[in-house]
Amino acid sequence: SRTAAVIPAAGRGVRLGPGAPKALRTLNGTPMLVHAVRSMAASRAVSLVVVVAPPDGAAEVRSLLDAYPLTGHDRAELLVVPGGESRQESVRRGLAALPDDVTTVLVHDAARPLVPVETVDSVISAVRAGAPAVVPALPLADTVKEVEPRTGAAAGEPEPVVGTPERALLRAVQTPQGFDRRTLDAAHEKFAAFATEGEGATDDAGLVERLGAPVVVVPGHEEAFKVTRPLDLVLAEAVLARRRA
Ligand code: C5P
Repeated sequence: SRTAAVIPAAGRGVRLGPGAPKALRTLNGTPMLVHAVRSMAASRAVSLVVVVAPPDGAAEVRSLLDAYPLTGHDRAELLVVPGGESRQESVRRGLAALPDDVTTVLVHDAARPLVPVETVDSVISAVRAGAPAVVPALPLADTVKEVEPRTGAAAGEPEPVVGTPERALLRAVQTPQGFDRRTLDAAHEKFAAFATEGEGATDDAGLVERLGAPVVVVPGHEEAFKVTRPLDLVLAEAVLARRRA
């Protein structure tokens, strides 16, 4: 029985501004995807990392990763497969590439390059202790409102507030999310038809919830934040500089 990590990295990252696909943007000179691969391989439990590349970019991603070999205790087998139109479809293709002896799967966004190994290990431990689905998450700093979005001709107009969920009950969910492999395979198989662009699940645990299986939360980490907007690049480089100091 092995533990593998699937890294969906096929997104264009439009919110980050113009330029290369997000996963190929560099942080302190090293592509974000390389940081993400290393953060998974840093766990002694992870022996295989599957990177899901843009649909027409698998060869390019493979040669990029070959320039940053995994060595020492970060050594792990590395596969690169082409992704799909949605994150959910990309993850499904990554799962399809896993060998039979993989029993525990992590799914980790390339956009969270700096997750500490302690977080990765605590997710894996909780799965191995019997939880079919485990997500790292943090309490929210901001209060959250549910709104009625204004679209089409009304886009940009003030949005009516529908409700205010109690903040203390909410968690902001990160990755890697960890799964019993059979549970995650079943969820992706059942809901594959909904994986179209613009729809599809934004996290894998959500699919497991829809399947009716239990999902639990373990503490996340502030350095597991998602690099989404330009300011996040500044923060990520500062975190790396602090680690090296
Ligand atoms: O777009 P978002 O920030 O939710 O993307 C989360 C992760 O899913 C990123 O690592 C991105 O590269 C990946 N993704 C993907 N295939 C897509 C869209 C997003 O692998 N079609």
